[in-house]
Amino acid sequence: MCGIFGIVTKEIQNLGPVLISAGERLSYRGYDTVGAATLPKQGDIDLRKDTGKIQEVAEKYNFKDMSGDRAILQLRWATFGAPSQINSQPHLDSDGDLVGAHNGNVVNNVELMQQFREEGMTVRSENDGESCVHAVERYYDQGNDMVESIRMATKDLEGDYSFVIGKVGDDRLYAIKKGSGLVAGITEDMTCIGSDLPSILPITRRIVRLYDGEIITFWAGGYEITRVEDGSKITREPEISEESIEVAQKGGYDHFMLKEIHEQGQVAGELLHMLDRSTDLDQFLDKLQGARNIYLIACGTSFHAGLLGSVYFNQLAGKAAIPVLAPQFAAQYGSSVGPKDVGIFISQSGETKDVLNAIETAKKHGMVILGLVNVVGSTLTLVSEVHLPLTCGYEISVPATKTYCNQVLTLLYLALRYGGHDTGVLHKVPEMMDITLEEISSQIKPAVDKLSEWDDLYILGYGLTYPVALEGALKLKEITYVHCEGILSTEFKHGPLSAVSDGYPVIFVSGPDDVPLIISGINEVTCRGGHVIAIGFEDSRLEGNAQETIIIPDVDVSENLRPAILALLSVIPLQVLSYHCSLSRGYDPDFPRNLSKTLTVD
Ligand code: AGP
Repeated sequence: MCGIFGIVTKEIQNLGPVLISAGERLSYRGYDTVGAATLPKQGDIDLRKDTGKIQEVAEKYNFKDMSGDRAILQLRWATFGAPSQINSQPHLDSDGDLVGAHNGNVVNNVELMQQFREEGMTVRSENDGESCVHAVERYYDQGNDMVESIRMATKDLEGDYSFVIGKVGDDRLYAIKKGSGLVAGITEDMTCIGSDLPSILPITRRIVRLYDGEIITFWAGGYEITRVEDGSKITREPEISEESIEVAQKGGYDHFMLKEIHEQGQVAGELLHMLDRSTDLDQFLDKLQGARNIYLIACGTSFHAGLLGSVYFNQLAGKAAIPVLAPQFAAQYGSSVGPKDVGIFISQSGETKDVLNAIETAKKHGMVILGLVNVVGSTLTLVSEVHLPLTCGYEISVPATKTYCNQVLTLLYLALRYGGHDTGVLHKVPEMMDITLEEISSQIKPAVDKLSEWDDLYILGYGLTYPVALEGALKLKEITYVHCEGILSTEFKHGPLSAVSDGYPVIFVSGPDDVPLIISGINEVTCRGGHVIAIGFEDSRLEGNAQETIIIPDVDVSENLRPAILALLSVIPLQVLSYHCSLSRGYDPDFPRNLSKTLTVD
């Protein structure tokens, strides 16, 4: 995720303060680099950009004194190219007459950059935002107008993005939406665009919504919308937005957690798109193929993803991948690892101190360090020999949701590739996630009511669903403050079964192949008066034995992949259940007490 903002005003004026406050409102979308440009009628574009957060870069480059009647701002969440000044946006075209910035991912960036160089263009960075500018330059220099050039450029630019661009000697700016957010705002003297509504609302509530496949040409007090597909014009009147800034930032959801749960299908799609084209993935796999032992090292939710990944590696690739909690790594394996071993370090933030400590141990023994990480530019991305980004954008809510799903999906992808299997079928997963979310949402109310009566419960899983049970229990305890333990279902009878009394809640997550075993576990609980909620694919045996079921819609994949996909999907009802249980207890699920999103302490 990144943020863009563009503005055109009637008169030349001091635009710096407007840019800074728009940047502050967009700051949640990226803080690796920030850049701003003003465009003159004649002469050079004033471009100021660098690494850092909006306040730091604005201060260092004196944004507040920037003036003009057209300006562009970008905040970057690094994906293509390290967070550096050269990779900061906006970017110039070859001769410095065009300037533009994007939000999203151009997945064929590497190939395009190569083409642009071969065509004699000046390519300065590795960043895909620069590809957007050169793609427009390519057609503008052939004599097309700006809108036509943008239309043609979109045929070259693969991926989901939006971008804003302008040229010297013009009085307008141009922006396109293709997958990433873009909204326009308009007054008599000004028109602006931003990646989200909150970036615009303090300027004006008169807004114009833009949809995928649309280009907006905007000038002070006016705009025109063009369809990319056929170049036809669209008439769309502005509307008055009543939304509060806070609600708008949450995209209309009550909490970031719910928004992030709903984004899971979309970010899974973006991840697969990236993995299919990633050359880093090949390097990553090469390191794994050459490994004596593979370790999956992480904390909290990321550890649960690693645990599930280890089952995927065993079942789909025939390779042991050893999951280990990062702070235990030195104690359990510190004296037995060496240069032939590979550690896959998994972390949303890339800054978790426990994980960085384990990396120190691994390095000391010469291990190969690989990373699966959401925050590009974080320490983990810097210390990894190869890292794969999770492409989730900013996860604001403390409980990790979308990053967990993309960690799991990446590990499933790696296991399939390692085992020599096709990954094409995984492209069904994003839609399956959306369907699952839709279908389970109406099923969880009885479970929420039941759990509101208890401060103590267990979640049980087996095989592929054991890590899901651990993750569900972590989600639930994290945001409801109740005691909830996830364990292997077969272990329940070895001790915890003694907790069961009349009505005591136990949730079972069942894989399609484990139903008979899970039924035994269910009956051990129900015959003692316990109340069982079973989660799984539709199965009359589950429905006949549990008091309640939450049914995940079945998936159209080969029999050997069905359990693997169920494991990925079955966390969704547990996330949603936890969210509603948190609300029913009057808590804010986004910011649970005592916890922090990034734990940079021992
Ligand atoms: C999960 O909801 C938590 N926020 C927590 O367990 C988290 O996964 C853990 O602290 C690890 O964080 P990381 O992925 O940023 O390393």
